[in-house]
Amino acid sequence: DLGPYRHYMQKEIFAQPVALADTLAAALKHGFSPALFGSDAHDIFSKTTAIRIVACGSSYHAGLVARYWIEEYTGLPVSVDIASEYRYRSGKEQDGTLIVAISQSGETADLLAALRSAKERGQVHILALCNVAHSTLTREADLVALTHAGIEIGVASTKAFTTQLAALFTLAGSLAHCRQTLDPAALAELANCLPRLPAMFTDIFPLETALEEWAHELSHYNHALFLGRHTLFPIALEGALKLKEIAYIHAEGYAAGELKHGPLALVDEEMPVIVCAANDALFDKLLSNLREVQARGGKIFLIAEPGCEAAFDYCHRTITLPSKTGPLAPIVFTLPLQFLAYHTACRKGTDVDKPRNLAKSVTVE
Ligand code: F6R
Repeated sequence: DLGPYRHYMQKEIFAQPVALADTLAAALKHGFSPALFGSDAHDIFSKTTAIRIVACGSSYHAGLVARYWIEEYTGLPVSVDIASEYRYRSGKEQDGTLIVAISQSGETADLLAALRSAKERGQVHILALCNVAHSTLTREADLVALTHAGIEIGVASTKAFTTQLAALFTLAGSLAHCRQTLDPAALAELANCLPRLPAMFTDIFPLETALEEWAHELSHYNHALFLGRHTLFPIALEGALKLKEIAYIHAEGYAAGELKHGPLALVDEEMPVIVCAANDALFDKLLSNLREVQARGGKIFLIAEPGCEAAFDYCHRTITLPSKTGPLAPIVFTLPLQFLAYHTACRKGTDVDKPRNLAKSVTVE
């Protein structure tokens, strides 16, 4: 039942405050703790020497974000692999590696093959992060963390992705708690961000109309670049993936610092550049990247946290988020990019919920 919505994807975008609250419920009640990941988690987390994340598609992008959090809060080395590549690579796993397998469905063939392969490469443990409680993935894992996104019907991942991020933030905090790598005040500060997350989404909903106007403009282009830095770099990848899969517009996500290593050659008046800007230590670096784009005639569509006004002079369009996002920036910035892709697809008249050539669950290689 679609209720007031035009598509399941739109309904699922608006379901995110509830999906996030449901996914975070245990963490909000008990705080960061290995216990959230099962009774063996304390033992496994204490002995973990390295983390390897494997996943496909949007779930892979969630893994890329998690790397920033886990490295910063725990100091553990983290690598992130596309499952279809990892499964055919050779190479041992260091004993004590925790394999984090991320999958909405828990049935993705490449992912299952990757985790079976990981088990043969060394003394590893598997942590499954999944939206389906009784799936092949959860059965084969040592530890299970569930996202509570509910059923996702739209092929393009929305609430499944943002709840993965929320669960991965909880994982980073819980590893830090277990391994005592952050002082209690710093850990408490991270935990204190969580209760506000659902409301941060609700507060952005009124921006849908402005993003719909951007989408009208974007629908006339054949290409788009998405840029971000730090945790917003994987969100640029995710924004580009959404636009590709439902609006059929060729889009690429880039780390803003990579611009001058190639993609800048593509920038001219025909290239819309969608930028996510956090008001953080890297903002000045991003600013010089924007200057480079503007000087070549690129049209910058900026989504920014409050405090990024210095960038506006370089931009064609700007939207400022209602509040600071802190370490949760990648979760929050996903929402405007979902709206943008969704309305661009609507404008183009594509089959939003069932884009051509794609399946919801990829159970074959
Ligand atoms: C993109 C999308 C896909 C999935 C990918 C992995 O919107 O939905 O890229 O993320 O097929 O699927 P799961 O997470 O079920 O393993």
